Amino acid sequence: MSDFNNGFWNVWVIVLTIGSIIFCVLLLWSQSRARNAKGEVTGHVWDEDLQEYNNPLPNWWRWLFYLTIVFSFGYLALYPGLGTYAGSKGWTSTGQYELERDAAEAQFKAAYGELLTQNIELVATNDKAREAGERLFLNYCAQCHGSDAKGAKGFPNLTDADWLWGGEPAQIKETLTNGRMAVMPPFAHLGPQKIKDVAYYVRSLSGLVNPHAPEADRGKAVYNSAGCAACHGAEGKGNLGLAPNLTDKVWLYGSRDATLIETISKGRTNSMPAFGEFLGEDKVHLLTAYVYGLSLGNRAEAGK
Ligand code: HEC
Ligand code: HEC
Repeated sequence: MSDFNNGFWNVWVIVLTIGSIIFCVLLLWSQSRARNAKGEVTGHVWDEDLQEYNNPLPNWWRWLFYLTIVFSFGYLALYPGLGTYAGSKGWTSTGQYELERDAAEAQFKAAYGELLTQNIELVATNDKAREAGERLFLNYCAQCHGSDAKGAKGFPNLTDADWLWGGEPAQIKETLTNGRMAVMPPFAHLGPQKIKDVAYYVRSLSGLVNPHAPEADRGKAVYNSAGCAACHGAEGKGNLGLAPNLTDKVWLYGSRDATLIETISKGRTNSMPAFGEFLGEDKVHLLTAYVYGLSLGNRAEAGK
């Protein structure tokens, strides 16, 4: 009701509400007085001998109606309904939501109690925690990272051992709690030739094209002079939390020539939303363990 910016609308709502109740009472009262009509027929006849009588409403029906009117006054005294009057119980929809949310959280805490205090490595091996983590993941994360968590163009694969922001429990938790924002600046000012060369050089770093070709040499010179190394490192191996490794086979946007040229000339802005406030610490804890667990098999393979 706080969006009423003057007293008129408050009074208007009260008058309308009380007015329509009084109207109902008057209507009922007037109808119950029409008793003299009892037994009269209206003159409407169907199927030869079916006649319509003009009888008053039955008493039980009328009293039920009166009862709803008494109920409405009780309701309006207890709950908000009359303009800005809050009702004697002080009920609000936000308050109700908070109560239900707190109850659900208490239930969640009771169900997963000890897991919430254990460290991530341990929780990641627990089946019950994994199932809960998977349910949360399917609800809140799958629309971007895929239900198998293998990602898509622009959305990282969470099951490989390759990390943009780090795969240690604390780093994953930080990613989920506060979100992450990645900015690859645009380099259109280099002009098409230099962009083509540097894209060639980047592709040569992971063995997609011949690293000894003249384009690769020219591209390397651009890589160094344009400042790519400041973020991606002198050898293109990346810097955790700053810019991805360009020498491995993991691509966020794809390894095609045209894709690289687009990334380099237009830049990329990408963000992982923050979930800390929305999901709360406990759910973030279970999700961190779930995500940590996804790549355990691949970590052993990659020696990480
Ligand atoms: C709106 C889409 C979106 C949703 C929803 C989303 N993410 Fe992300 N997430 C991203 C993007 C985009 C990135 C990559 C950001 C970047 O380029 O640095 C990312 C990055 C991450 C990373 C870091 C990966 C790395 O290599 O370091 C983790 C971990 C992660 N997300 C987990 C989750 C979890 C768990 C959820 C569910 C609670 C979730 N994400 C929900 C879009 C999303
Ligand atoms: C200010 C730091 C910064 C500089 C300078 C920079 N990059 Fe990037 N680059 C990034 C970040 C951050 C990403 C990841 C974007 C994301 O997560 O969406 C990225 C992504 C990329 C990708 C996509 C990788 C993939 O997996 O799809 C390529 C290719 C790339 N950069 C090449 C270059 C080249 C070539 C230069 C120099 C001309 C350059 N970058 C300069 C920060 C930088």
